[in-house]
Amino acid sequence: MTNKTISRRRFLKYTGLTLGGMAAGTYGVSTLNRADYSDPAYTYWRHKVQSGMSDNEYIVMCGTLAPSPHNTQPWKFKPEPGVIKIFADKSRSLGAADPDFKLMAQGMGCALENMKIAALKLGYKNVTFHPEADSRFQKDGYCGALKLNTKSSSGNHSLHDSIFIRQTIRSSYNMAHAIPDDFIMALSNENNLPDIHIKWFKSPGERAKVVSITKEAIRLFIDNDSMYRDGMKWFRLKRDEWETKRDGISIFTSNAPFYIKHWFEWVASRQDLNSDTMKESEVGYIDHVAPLTPLWGLIYSDVKSYNNRIYGGQMLEKVYLRAAKNGYGVCPLSQPTDMKHTDDKLRELTEVGQKGELLTLFRLGKADMLEKSVRLDLSKVII
Ligand SMILES: Cc1cc2nc3c(=O)[nH]c(=O)nc-3n(C[C@H](O)[C@H](O)[C@H](O)COP(=O)(O)O)c2cc1C
Repeated sequence: MTNKTISRRRFLKYTGLTLGGMAAGTYGVSTLNRADYSDPAYTYWRHKVQSGMSDNEYIVMCGTLAPSPHNTQPWKFKPEPGVIKIFADKSRSLGAADPDFKLMAQGMGCALENMKIAALKLGYKNVTFHPEADSRFQKDGYCGALKLNTKSSSGNHSLHDSIFIRQTIRSSYNMAHAIPDDFIMALSNENNLPDIHIKWFKSPGERAKVVSITKEAIRLFIDNDSMYRDGMKWFRLKRDEWETKRDGISIFTSNAPFYIKHWFEWVASRQDLNSDTMKESEVGYIDHVAPLTPLWGLIYSDVKSYNNRIYGGQMLEKVYLRAAKNGYGVCPLSQPTDMKHTDDKLRELTEVGQKGELLTLFRLGKADMLEKSVRLDLSKVII
Protein backbone atom coordinates (compact mmCIF):
# COMPACT_ATOMS: atom_id res chain seq x y z
CA MET A 1 0.00 0.00 0.00
CA THR A 2 1.44 3.38 -0.98
CA ASN A 3 1.47 6.46 1.24
CA LYS A 4 -0.95 8.10 -1.14
CA THR A 5 -3.41 5.21 -0.68
CA ILE A 6 -3.07 5.39 3.09
CA SER A 7 -3.78 9.08 3.22
CA ARG A 8 -6.71 8.74 0.80
CA ARG A 9 -8.23 6.04 3.02
CA ARG A 10 -7.64 8.02 6.15
CA PHE A 11 -9.37 11.06 4.69
CA LEU A 12 -12.28 9.00 3.48
CA LYS A 13 -12.60 7.52 6.94
CA TYR A 14 -12.74 10.95 8.57
CA THR A 15 -15.15 12.05 5.92
CA GLY A 16 -17.56 9.43 7.17
CA LEU A 17 -18.12 11.44 10.30
CA THR A 18 -19.63 14.05 8.10
CA LEU A 19 -20.47 12.90 4.60
CA GLY A 20 -23.79 11.11 5.13
CA GLY A 21 -24.23 14.48 6.67
CA MET A 22 -22.34 15.72 3.63
CA ALA A 23 -19.97 17.59 5.85
CA ALA A 24 -18.11 20.77 6.73
CA GLY A 25 -17.80 24.49 7.34
CA THR A 26 -19.41 26.55 10.05
CA TYR A 27 -21.84 29.10 8.68
CA GLY A 28 -20.43 32.54 9.31
CA VAL A 29 -17.22 31.27 10.86
CA SER A 30 -13.97 31.72 9.01
CA THR A 31 -12.54 28.64 7.37
CA LEU A 32 -10.09 28.50 4.51
CA ASN A 33 -12.73 27.20 2.18
CA ARG A 34 -15.99 28.89 2.92
CA ALA A 35 -18.82 30.13 0.78
CA ASP A 36 -18.72 33.56 -0.76
CA TYR A 37 -22.33 34.58 -0.14
CA SER A 38 -22.16 37.22 -2.83
CA ASP A 39 -22.05 34.37 -5.39
CA PRO A 40 -25.38 34.14 -7.33
CA ALA A 41 -25.78 30.51 -6.15
CA TYR A 42 -26.65 31.83 -2.66
CA THR A 43 -28.41 35.03 -3.62
CA TYR A 44 -31.99 34.09 -2.64
CA TRP A 45 -31.08 33.43 0.98
CA ARG A 46 -30.58 37.20 1.29
CA HIS A 47 -33.90 38.21 -0.34
CA LYS A 48 -36.06 38.41 2.75
CA VAL A 49 -37.84 41.38 1.26
CA GLN A 50 -39.53 41.40 -2.12
CA SER A 51 -37.10 43.95 -3.64
CA GLY A 52 -38.13 44.40 -7.28
CA MET A 53 -39.69 40.99 -7.80
CA SER A 54 -43.32 40.44 -8.80
CA ASP A 55 -45.54 38.67 -6.25
CA ASN A 56 -45.40 35.44 -8.22
CA GLU A 57 -41.59 35.58 -8.53
CA TYR A 58 -41.20 36.19 -4.81
CA ILE A 59 -43.55 33.32 -3.93
CA VAL A 60 -41.70 30.96 -6.29
CA MET A 61 -38.33 32.13 -4.93
CA CYS A 62 -39.44 31.26 -1.40
CA GLY A 63 -40.53 27.86 -2.73
CA THR A 64 -37.05 27.21 -4.11
CA LEU A 65 -35.46 27.81 -0.70
CA ALA A 66 -37.20 24.68 0.58
CA PRO A 67 -35.31 21.46 1.25
CA SER A 68 -35.41 18.73 -1.41
CA PRO A 69 -33.91 15.23 -1.62
CA HIS A 70 -30.16 15.69 -2.28
CA ASN A 71 -30.94 19.29 -3.20
CA THR A 72 -32.29 18.10 -6.57
CA GLN A 73 -34.74 21.05 -6.57
CA PRO A 74 -37.08 18.91 -8.68
CA TRP A 75 -39.63 21.64 -9.33
CA LYS A 76 -41.07 23.78 -12.09
CA PHE A 77 -43.59 26.58 -11.55
CA LYS A 78 -46.05 28.07 -14.02
CA PRO A 79 -47.36 31.42 -12.74
CA GLU A 80 -50.65 32.67 -14.19
CA PRO A 81 -52.91 35.47 -12.94
CA GLY A 82 -54.14 34.46 -9.48
CA VAL A 83 -52.60 31.01 -9.61
CA ILE A 84 -49.21 29.25 -9.61
CA LYS A 85 -49.21 25.77 -11.12
CA ILE A 86 -46.71 23.41 -9.54
CA PHE A 87 -44.98 20.60 -11.44
CA ALA A 88 -42.44 17.98 -10.35
CA ASP A 89 -39.59 17.63 -12.85
CA LYS A 90 -39.07 13.88 -12.93
CA SER A 91 -35.82 14.24 -14.87
CA ARG A 92 -34.33 15.51 -11.59
CA SER A 93 -35.03 12.39 -9.52
CA LEU A 94 -32.67 10.29 -7.43
CA GLY A 95 -33.22 7.36 -9.82
CA ALA A 96 -32.95 3.99 -8.06
CA ALA A 97 -32.78 5.83 -4.73
CA ASP A 98 -36.32 7.17 -5.29
CA PRO A 99 -37.96 4.82 -7.83
CA ASP A 100 -41.54 5.75 -6.96
CA PHE A 101 -40.86 9.52 -6.56
CA LYS A 102 -41.83 9.33 -2.91
CA LEU A 103 -39.00 11.63 -1.82
CA MET A 104 -39.51 13.94 -4.78
CA ALA A 105 -43.20 14.40 -3.96
CA GLN A 106 -42.29 15.30 -0.39
CA GLY A 107 -39.78 17.87 -1.65
CA MET A 108 -42.62 19.38 -3.69
CA GLY A 109 -44.68 19.64 -0.50
CA CYS A 110 -41.80 21.45 1.24
CA ALA A 111 -41.72 24.03 -1.57
CA LEU A 112 -45.51 24.39 -1.49
CA GLU A 113 -45.46 25.15 2.23
CA ASN A 114 -42.91 27.94 1.74
CA MET A 115 -44.99 29.34 -1.11
CA LYS A 116 -48.16 29.43 0.99
CA ILE A 117 -46.32 31.24 3.77
CA ALA A 118 -44.80 33.74 1.32
CA ALA A 119 -48.23 34.47 -0.21
CA LEU A 120 -49.76 35.13 3.23
CA LYS A 121 -46.82 37.39 4.05
CA LEU A 122 -47.46 39.38 0.86
CA GLY A 123 -51.02 40.03 2.03
CA TYR A 124 -53.06 37.40 0.13
CA LYS A 125 -55.98 36.47 2.36
CA ASN A 126 -57.22 33.42 0.58
CA VAL A 127 -54.35 31.05 -0.27
CA THR A 128 -55.50 27.55 -1.20
CA PHE A 129 -53.83 24.51 -2.75
CA HIS A 130 -55.85 22.40 -5.19
CA PRO A 131 -54.07 19.03 -5.32
CA GLU A 132 -54.07 16.91 -8.44
CA ALA A 133 -51.00 14.76 -7.90
CA ASP A 134 -52.94 11.50 -7.58
CA SER A 135 -54.31 11.80 -11.10
CA ARG A 136 -51.40 13.65 -12.77
CA PHE A 137 -48.06 13.10 -10.98
CA GLN A 138 -47.22 9.87 -12.82
CA LYS A 139 -48.23 11.36 -16.18
CA ASP A 140 -46.58 14.77 -16.33
CA GLY A 141 -45.49 15.60 -12.77
CA TYR A 142 -48.36 18.02 -12.17
CA CYS A 143 -48.94 18.41 -8.43
CA GLY A 144 -51.69 21.03 -8.26
CA ALA A 145 -52.43 24.74 -8.26
CA LEU A 146 -51.78 27.32 -5.59
CA LYS A 147 -54.62 29.85 -5.86
CA LEU A 148 -54.13 33.38 -4.55
CA ASN A 149 -57.10 35.68 -3.94
CA THR A 150 -58.00 38.93 -2.25
CA LYS A 151 -54.79 40.80 -1.57
CA SER A 152 -54.68 43.38 1.21
CA SER A 153 -51.96 45.98 1.71
CA SER A 154 -50.17 44.04 4.44
CA GLY A 155 -49.83 40.47 5.57
CA ASN A 156 -47.76 38.38 7.91
CA HIS A 157 -46.79 34.87 8.88
CA SER A 158 -44.86 33.93 11.99
CA LEU A 159 -42.69 31.45 10.05
CA HIS A 160 -41.88 33.69 7.06
CA ASP A 161 -38.45 34.80 8.27
CA SER A 162 -37.53 31.20 9.11
CA ILE A 163 -37.61 30.38 5.38
CA PHE A 164 -34.30 32.29 5.12
CA ILE A 165 -32.52 30.70 8.08
CA ARG A 166 -33.74 27.12 7.73
CA GLN A 167 -31.17 24.54 6.70
CA THR A 168 -30.45 20.84 7.07
CA ILE A 169 -28.03 20.30 9.95
CA ARG A 170 -26.34 16.93 9.73
CA SER A 171 -23.96 17.17 12.67
CA SER A 172 -24.45 15.55 16.06
CA TYR A 173 -26.81 17.47 18.36
CA ASN A 174 -26.26 18.73 21.90
CA MET A 175 -27.55 15.96 24.19
CA ALA A 176 -27.37 18.27 27.23
CA HIS A 177 -30.25 20.22 25.70
CA ALA A 178 -33.46 18.21 26.04
CA ILE A 179 -36.28 19.30 23.74
CA PRO A 180 -39.08 20.82 25.88
CA ASP A 181 -42.49 19.14 25.75
CA ASP A 182 -44.28 22.39 24.94
CA PHE A 183 -42.11 22.80 21.84
CA ILE A 184 -42.98 19.26 20.72
CA MET A 185 -46.63 20.07 21.35
CA ALA A 186 -46.31 23.25 19.24
CA LEU A 187 -44.83 21.19 16.40
CA SER A 188 -47.69 18.69 16.62
CA ASN A 189 -50.18 21.55 16.60
CA GLU A 190 -48.75 22.75 13.27
CA ASN A 191 -50.25 19.63 11.73
CA ASN A 192 -53.50 20.68 10.07
CA LEU A 193 -52.97 18.43 7.05
CA PRO A 194 -55.48 15.73 6.11
CA ASP A 195 -54.35 12.12 6.77
CA ILE A 196 -50.89 13.18 8.06
CA HIS A 197 -49.52 12.26 11.51
CA ILE A 198 -46.30 12.61 13.45
CA LYS A 199 -44.98 10.08 15.91
CA TRP A 200 -42.31 11.33 18.34
CA PHE A 201 -39.52 9.22 19.83
CA LYS A 202 -38.23 10.99 22.89
CA SER A 203 -37.63 8.56 25.76
CA PRO A 204 -34.21 6.84 25.88
CA GLY A 205 -35.86 3.46 25.18
CA GLU A 206 -37.76 4.72 22.10
CA ARG A 207 -34.72 6.54 20.77
CA ALA A 208 -32.53 3.47 21.16
CA LYS A 209 -34.95 1.47 19.00
CA VAL A 210 -34.93 4.13 16.27
CA VAL A 211 -31.13 4.41 16.39
CA SER A 212 -30.79 0.67 15.95
CA ILE A 213 -33.22 0.64 12.98
CA THR A 214 -31.41 3.62 11.41
CA LYS A 215 -28.03 1.91 11.71
CA GLU A 216 -29.43 -1.20 10.09
CA ALA A 217 -31.00 0.87 7.27
CA ILE A 218 -27.77 2.59 6.30
CA ARG A 219 -26.03 -0.77 6.03
CA LEU A 220 -28.80 -2.09 3.76
CA PHE A 221 -28.64 1.11 1.71
CA ILE A 222 -24.90 1.02 1.01
CA ASP A 223 -25.19 -2.65 0.04
CA ASN A 224 -27.64 -1.66 -2.69
CA ASP A 225 -25.24 -0.57 -5.39
CA SER A 226 -27.70 1.16 -7.71
CA MET A 227 -29.40 3.15 -4.95
CA TYR A 228 -26.05 4.29 -3.59
CA ARG A 229 -24.62 5.18 -7.01
CA ASP A 230 -27.69 7.07 -8.20
CA GLY A 231 -27.70 9.11 -4.99
CA MET A 232 -24.01 9.91 -5.38
CA LYS A 233 -24.62 11.32 -8.88
CA TRP A 234 -25.91 14.41 -7.07
CA PHE A 235 -22.75 14.82 -5.00
CA ARG A 236 -20.73 17.82 -6.15
CA LEU A 237 -17.05 17.31 -5.41
CA LYS A 238 -15.61 20.76 -6.07
CA ARG A 239 -16.94 24.09 -4.88
CA ASP A 240 -16.76 25.48 -8.40
CA GLU A 241 -18.87 22.61 -9.78
CA TRP A 242 -21.38 23.05 -6.95
CA GLU A 243 -21.74 26.79 -7.36
CA THR A 244 -21.96 26.54 -11.14
CA LYS A 245 -24.57 23.77 -11.23
CA ARG A 246 -26.33 25.29 -8.22
CA ASP A 247 -27.84 21.97 -7.12
CA GLY A 248 -26.87 18.73 -5.37
CA ILE A 249 -25.06 18.12 -2.10
CA SER A 250 -21.46 18.72 -1.12
CA ILE A 251 -18.99 18.43 1.72
CA PHE A 252 -19.13 22.21 2.17
CA THR A 253 -22.44 22.29 4.07
CA SER A 254 -21.19 20.00 6.82
CA ASN A 255 -19.13 20.60 9.94
CA ALA A 256 -16.04 18.71 8.75
CA PRO A 257 -12.74 20.46 9.40
CA PHE A 258 -11.38 22.66 6.64
CA TYR A 259 -8.65 20.17 5.67
CA ILE A 260 -11.29 17.60 4.74
CA LYS A 261 -13.01 20.15 2.56
CA HIS A 262 -9.68 20.91 1.00
CA TRP A 263 -9.08 17.23 0.39
CA PHE A 264 -12.38 17.08 -1.50
CA GLU A 265 -11.55 20.22 -3.41
CA TRP A 266 -8.07 19.18 -4.48
CA VAL A 267 -7.66 15.41 -4.24
CA ALA A 268 -10.90 13.39 -4.18
CA SER A 269 -12.22 11.80 -7.35
CA ARG A 270 -15.61 10.45 -8.47
CA GLN A 271 -14.12 6.99 -7.99
CA ASP A 272 -13.52 7.77 -4.32
CA LEU A 273 -17.19 8.64 -3.89
CA ASN A 274 -18.25 5.16 -4.92
CA SER A 275 -15.49 3.32 -3.07
CA ASP A 276 -16.08 0.82 -0.26
CA THR A 277 -14.22 3.11 2.11
CA MET A 278 -16.64 5.95 1.37
CA LYS A 279 -19.57 3.60 1.92
CA GLU A 280 -18.07 2.57 5.26
CA SER A 281 -17.72 6.23 6.09
CA GLU A 282 -21.49 6.66 5.64
CA VAL A 283 -21.98 3.88 8.15
CA GLY A 284 -19.49 5.54 10.50
CA TYR A 285 -21.32 8.85 10.17
CA ILE A 286 -24.71 7.38 11.09
CA ASP A 287 -23.21 5.35 13.95
CA HIS A 288 -21.75 8.59 15.28
CA VAL A 289 -24.66 11.04 14.93
CA ALA A 290 -27.73 8.84 15.38
CA PRO A 291 -27.23 8.31 19.14
CA LEU A 292 -26.51 12.04 19.53
CA THR A 293 -30.12 12.97 18.74
CA PRO A 294 -32.42 14.09 21.57
CA LEU A 295 -35.62 13.85 19.52
CA TRP A 296 -36.71 11.78 16.52
CA GLY A 297 -39.92 12.33 14.58
CA LEU A 298 -41.66 10.21 11.98
CA ILE A 299 -44.18 11.70 9.55
CA TYR A 300 -46.63 9.19 8.11
CA SER A 301 -49.95 9.10 6.27
CA ASP A 302 -53.06 6.95 6.70
CA VAL A 303 -53.19 6.14 3.00
CA LYS A 304 -50.39 5.87 0.43
CA SER A 305 -50.94 8.52 -2.25
CA TYR A 306 -49.03 11.25 -4.09
CA ASN A 307 -51.25 13.92 -2.58
CA ASN A 308 -50.41 12.63 0.90
CA ARG A 309 -46.70 12.60 0.06
CA ILE A 310 -47.02 16.28 -0.81
CA TYR A 311 -48.90 16.95 2.44
CA GLY A 312 -46.21 15.01 4.32
CA GLY A 313 -43.60 17.29 2.74
CA GLN A 314 -45.58 20.32 3.89
CA MET A 315 -45.49 18.92 7.41
CA LEU A 316 -41.75 18.31 7.20
CA GLU A 317 -41.23 21.93 6.15
CA LYS A 318 -43.40 23.18 9.02
CA VAL A 319 -41.12 21.23 11.37
CA TYR A 320 -37.98 22.62 9.71
CA LEU A 321 -39.25 26.21 9.96
CA ARG A 322 -40.49 26.11 13.53
CA ALA A 323 -37.30 24.33 14.57
CA ALA A 324 -35.17 27.00 12.86
CA LYS A 325 -37.18 29.75 14.55
CA ASN A 326 -36.43 28.16 17.93
CA GLY A 327 -32.74 27.54 17.25
CA TYR A 328 -32.99 23.82 16.51
CA GLY A 329 -31.53 21.85 13.65
CA VAL A 330 -33.37 19.20 11.64
CA CYS A 331 -32.07 16.39 9.45
CA PRO A 332 -34.36 13.99 7.58
CA LEU A 333 -33.00 10.47 7.09
CA SER A 334 -34.59 8.65 4.19
CA GLN A 335 -32.94 5.24 4.39
CA PRO A 336 -34.98 3.80 7.29
CA THR A 337 -38.23 4.32 5.35
CA ASP A 338 -36.66 3.57 1.93
CA MET A 339 -35.54 0.05 2.85
CA LYS A 340 -38.45 -2.41 3.16
CA HIS A 341 -36.95 -4.33 6.09
CA THR A 342 -36.44 -1.27 8.29
CA ASP A 343 -39.68 0.34 7.11
CA ASP A 344 -41.46 -2.75 8.48
CA LYS A 345 -39.62 -2.39 11.78
CA LEU A 346 -40.56 1.28 12.06
CA ARG A 347 -44.20 0.42 11.32
CA GLU A 348 -44.19 -1.79 14.39
CA LEU A 349 -43.29 1.28 16.47
CA THR A 350 -46.22 3.33 15.10
CA GLU A 351 -49.92 2.74 14.76
CA VAL A 352 -49.85 2.89 10.97
CA GLY A 353 -51.40 -0.12 9.28
CA GLN A 354 -50.31 -1.60 5.94
CA LYS A 355 -52.56 0.87 4.04
CA GLY A 356 -50.60 3.82 5.34
CA GLU A 357 -47.14 5.03 4.32
CA LEU A 358 -44.15 6.06 6.40
CA LEU A 359 -42.89 9.27 4.82
CA THR A 360 -39.92 10.84 6.62
CA LEU A 361 -37.96 10.01 9.71
CA PHE A 362 -36.01 13.02 11.00
CA ARG A 363 -33.59 14.03 13.74
CA LEU A 364 -34.08 17.25 15.72
CA GLY A 365 -31.85 18.96 18.26
CA LYS A 366 -29.63 21.90 19.22
CA ALA A 367 -26.67 22.41 16.92
CA ASP A 368 -24.58 25.14 15.36
CA MET A 369 -25.60 26.52 11.99
CA LEU A 370 -23.58 25.46 8.99
CA GLU A 371 -22.93 26.76 5.50
CA LYS A 372 -25.93 27.39 3.26
CA SER A 373 -26.67 25.25 0.21
CA VAL A 374 -26.93 26.50 -3.38
CA ARG A 375 -30.10 27.22 -5.37
CA LEU A 376 -30.96 27.27 -9.09
CA ASP A 377 -31.69 30.58 -10.77
CA LEU A 378 -35.43 31.36 -10.97
CA SER A 379 -35.20 31.41 -14.78
CA LYS A 380 -34.49 27.65 -14.63
CA VAL A 381 -37.61 26.80 -12.64
CA ILE A 382 -40.26 29.21 -13.95
CA ILE A 383 -41.97 27.94 -17.10
C1 LIG B 1 -37.88 14.37 1.40
C2 LIG B 1 -36.46 14.71 1.82
C3 LIG B 1 -35.58 13.70 2.18
C4 LIG B 1 -34.29 14.01 2.61
N1 LIG B 1 -33.45 12.99 3.01
C5 LIG B 1 -32.22 13.29 3.50
C6 LIG B 1 -31.35 12.26 3.97
O1 LIG B 1 -31.68 11.07 3.92
N2 LIG B 1 -30.14 12.62 4.49
C7 LIG B 1 -29.74 13.92 4.55
O2 LIG B 1 -28.65 14.18 5.05
N3 LIG B 1 -30.54 14.93 4.08
C8 LIG B 1 -31.76 14.64 3.57
N4 LIG B 1 -32.57 15.65 3.12
C9 LIG B 1 -32.11 17.05 3.16
C10 LIG B 1 -31.62 17.51 1.78
O3 LIG B 1 -30.43 16.86 1.42
C11 LIG B 1 -31.44 19.05 1.83
O4 LIG B 1 -32.70 19.62 1.98
C12 LIG B 1 -30.79 19.62 0.59
O5 LIG B 1 -29.49 19.15 0.45
C13 LIG B 1 -30.77 21.15 0.63
O6 LIG B 1 -30.11 21.62 1.77
P1 LIG B 1 -30.82 22.57 2.84
O7 LIG B 1 -31.98 21.81 3.40
O8 LIG B 1 -29.75 22.84 3.88
O9 LIG B 1 -31.27 23.80 2.14
C14 LIG B 1 -33.87 15.36 2.66
C15 LIG B 1 -34.76 16.37 2.27
C16 LIG B 1 -36.06 16.06 1.86
C17 LIG B 1 -37.00 17.16 1.47
